[in-house]
Amino acid sequence: MAQGFDRHFDRHDTDSIKWDLTREGELPMFIADMDFESAPAVRERIEKRLKHPVYGYTRTPDELIESFTSWFKGEYEYEPKKEWVVPISGIVPALAVVSNLGGGSSITVTPNYHMLLDAPEKAGNKMIRVPLRNDEEYYTFDFDALSKALLPDTKLFYLCNPQNPVGRIYKHDELEDVSRFAKENNLVVISDEIHCELVYDRRHIPFLTVDEFAKENSISFYAPGKTYNIPGVSLAFAVIPNEFLRKEFNRLSYALGHPGVFNIEAGIAAYSQSKVWRLGLIEYLRENRDYLESELKRRFPDAVFTHTEATYLQWINFGKGIDADFLRKNAKVWLTDGKDFGGEGYVRLNFGCPRDYITEALDRIESAVFKGGEKKYG
Ligand SMILES: Cc1ncc(COP(=O)(O)O)c(C=O)c1O
Repeated sequence: MAQGFDRHFDRHDTDSIKWDLTREGELPMFIADMDFESAPAVRERIEKRLKHPVYGYTRTPDELIESFTSWFKGEYEYEPKKEWVVPISGIVPALAVVSNLGGGSSITVTPNYHMLLDAPEKAGNKMIRVPLRNDEEYYTFDFDALSKALLPDTKLFYLCNPQNPVGRIYKHDELEDVSRFAKENNLVVISDEIHCELVYDRRHIPFLTVDEFAKENSISFYAPGKTYNIPGVSLAFAVIPNEFLRKEFNRLSYALGHPGVFNIEAGIAAYSQSKVWRLGLIEYLRENRDYLESELKRRFPDAVFTHTEATYLQWINFGKGIDADFLRKNAKVWLTDGKDFGGEGYVRLNFGCPRDYITEALDRIESAVFKGGEKKYG
């Protein structure tokens, strides 16, 4: 039985984006951080380092890379070589700089994490957006549409797996298809796997393990931020088996900077000392997901929503007019609007919180949607 996840923490006055930007009385369930305390080993390790009063320039110790590669081996029975791993300060800036690889456009699917969609464009490069096929709220790739959308200069395919916001864990055959598509069209795959540990229904498959082409033609990103609830600790890893790509990445990523002194401690503790805590977290989140799904069905019979296989993010369409603005104003629940992800009509609800927050949010949304017992919108 998962312990401690029902506890409430007042996060106001910590400069939390989630809580300190809310209006009076609002319940925030938008940005992807959780309201649980961070993994205890992470806190202990940071506290220990804090006791030494000098926080100087710090090299990246082998222990950090080894804790990451050992964790990877434990999870996926595949050990990346240490030299493939490049520690960086965050995935989002890396998504921007890699868009300069090859000097062409990039392609990806929607709905998709808004920063993944935007990052190449912020770096001055074109991102082609192609909708996923949606078969009754089960989203998968539409390779015909992807093929048609390619431009002569398209060089990169951005993959988000598990997929934020639709909560899919892509299956082996879907990833093989991505690899085949990339091979046929001479694309390098940029695989953002930040949500890989937050899986409920099936195991995650790292893209680089799919086949030889995938290994030699991809750059994969991992980070401890989501799982161990340390998104404010800027630390991530690029895994790049191909030497040429790695050199190019190292050249481009100079501007990304190295992990700082506390980030290193946090990363080691997350990957090497936090497995039991993580298993408890997954159990709690799975129960949150099941509770949310059954309550959505019971309270909002007309709503459509995905079955969340991974992530703590629920993708929901409550009906016409019931968007994030409507819910923020009328229910005082702050969700992310689907249009940010290229998914008009939907909202994304973060269920990485004590379960009673979910009940409170659904009570408020229900009253706003069914004012006076009748559905006012949709
Ligand atoms: C798919 C995905 N990638 C990356 C990030 C953020 O990565 P970072 O904090 O390392 O920049 C998020 C945060 O929500 C995410 O959902």
